[in-house]
Amino acid sequence: MKTIDLALLGFGNVGKAFARLLTAKKQELQEHFGFNPRITAIATGSHGVCLDPSGVDDQYLLNLLDSEEPLELSVLDKMAFKGDMFDFIRQAPAQVLVETTPVNPRSGLPALDYLRAAAIRGLHLITANKGPVVYGFRELTELTKEHGRLFRFESTVMDGAPIFSLFRGPLAGAKLHGFYGILNSCTNLLLDRMRGGETLEQAVAYGVSIGITETDPSNDVDGWDAAIKVAVLSNVLMGQNLTPMDVKPTGIRGITPEMIASAESQGKRWKLVCQGGWQDGHFHVSVKPEMVGPNSPLYTVDGTSSYVNFALDVLPGLGILETDPSPNTTAFGLLADLIDIVKSETR
Ligand SMILES: NC(=O)c1ccc[n+]([C@@H]2O[C@H](COP(=O)([O-])OP(=O)(O)OC[C@H]3O[C@@H](n4cnc5c(N)ncnc54)[C@H](OP(=O)(O)O)[C@@H]3O)[C@@H](O)[C@H]2O)c1
Repeated sequence: MKTIDLALLGFGNVGKAFARLLTAKKQELQEHFGFNPRITAIATGSHGVCLDPSGVDDQYLLNLLDSEEPLELSVLDKMAFKGDMFDFIRQAPAQVLVETTPVNPRSGLPALDYLRAAAIRGLHLITANKGPVVYGFRELTELTKEHGRLFRFESTVMDGAPIFSLFRGPLAGAKLHGFYGILNSCTNLLLDRMRGGETLEQAVAYGVSIGITETDPSNDVDGWDAAIKVAVLSNVLMGQNLTPMDVKPTGIRGITPEMIASAESQGKRWKLVCQGGWQDGHFHVSVKPEMVGPNSPLYTVDGTSSYVNFALDVLPGLGILETDPSPNTTAFGLLADLIDIVKSETR
């Protein structure tokens, strides 16, 4: 049985959910995909670092996660680790780096530098972080390719829903003309809760409490998370070279209770609508709140759901709806990437 050793850089909502999912699916991965995943290294910003070449004990790790005590990972360290994140990347006894640190929509740093260092070391890369994808998609793809490795990032747009793998696989022969949708599930939930009478601040506090907001919730509210996803889709699927700043997002901060009531009275709802695509020979992108009526597929996308509709030359409208996202669904995107990487080694 092949063993795949993983270094987790970032161990917050998503990193922890991934560790739980790996443990829950371990037997299935062994039986159906012929590999045994082991977490051999974990690094956080302020909860310690651990390295263990024989793999951290799954049950011990789960017990730590379930404990009421603040997490301190150094109790699992078997290599007396000292150093910074780059030392961690150099020393981690792993074949794959799974990066889940917070997004930086303005530069992708420091995650982009972490992933560069790991690619140069010859590791496969998996990230849930949109920053390094939007600022480093081509570079990281080339760097990993030079070492016969892969760069995967399925969970950066719509969590665990298959988007990038769909275009690499079943949609490989189709040409994408454009897309639209609701790509930020957090603001969709906030707008729903504001429709129910909450203020923006109350709605944000709820979003934070269920772990659905970005580490800095203003990245959601001001449209940056949506803008970065629009840029990621445009760059990866449509050959563009955009930054989130090029998208010039308008978030939901300006939506007032009066505007919500007015939309209701017209039988409409406010949605933060994302778009990208070719029009009259130019590539256009936007993120802005729009009132949509019951005829739009966006009207019934409620709560934390998200939706994307692709216009392809061969399929005029292909919609993908994801309901009930959470760190667990994001963790599944990471797992799907891992399975893809393991399969690539036997192709
Ligand atoms: N939450 C979701 O459902 C979701 C969905 C899709 C994509 N994502 C993306 O997934 C990533 C992680 O999200 P999350 O919700 O897990 O975030 P989170 O709970 O804030 O966890 C971030 C982790 O990264 C660590 N960290 C922060 N700054 C660091 C640095 N400079 N160097 C090394 N480690 C650092 C933190 O350390 P401490 O433990 O010390 O704080 C923490 O362990 C983000 O990029 C996010 O955009 C999240």
